[in-house]
Amino acid sequence: MKITFYGHNSLLLEVSGTYILIDPFITGNPLHKDKLDIKSLKADYILLTHAHQDHILDAEKIAKNTDAIIVSNYEIAMHYQEKGFKVHPMNHGGNWKFNFGNLKFVNAVHTSSFPDGSYGGQPGGFVIEGEHKNIYVAGDTALTMDMKLIPLQTKLDLAILPIGDNFTMGIEDAIIASEFVACEKVLGVHFDTFGYIEINHDEAKKKFNDAGKDLILLDFGSSIVL
Ligand code: NI
Ligand code: MN
Repeated sequence: MKITFYGHNSLLLEVSGTYILIDPFITGNPLHKDKLDIKSLKADYILLTHAHQDHILDAEKIAKNTDAIIVSNYEIAMHYQEKGFKVHPMNHGGNWKFNFGNLKFVNAVHTSSFPDGSYGGQPGGFVIEGEHKNIYVAGDTALTMDMKLIPLQTKLDLAILPIGDNFTMGIEDAIIASEFVACEKVLGVHFDTFGYIEINHDEAKKKFNDAGKDLILLDFGSSIVL
């Protein structure tokens, strides 16, 4: 499983030849907006954790270019289905076996309105199992006890957690989240994009290190392989 970081919570997974794009927010990212032509992105699926602009901005354009299936909560899926896109609706606690492996939509504590204020259902995260590797994409969320449910069923190889604070968990809570999901390898996301969520990278890595955990921070466009 290959995971490429495109800023904020935008991630591209390559699993068994399938391209899974998560929360594409690339053209509007003030740090990275000219670094990638989104027309070059491949996507078989676009996974959306919630309806906020900084997670869905480029979903329509990329879905049009790629014919990708948009996977999200019921309300977000219906929103895109009405616009003519291919969708797969899910809801909390639900699993589905896709061609790349199993996907579970799990709880997140956050909000989920569309940019125009319309209802975007409840936010979520994803547990993705493929190529014998298991990852958790938390999406925007607070630290929550529900995270403890994940390791009851899934031994994670990587937890992708927000660390920017203010709108989501910050570093201290992300360290506890990594305990809750029983995964010491964390890829940090949702930091630096806006003034509210700027972090000190060295300090963040040191705090994880002091807690016996590994915080990975990827540059735009760089990847890790599990
Ligand atoms: Ni959000
Ligand atoms: Mn966000």
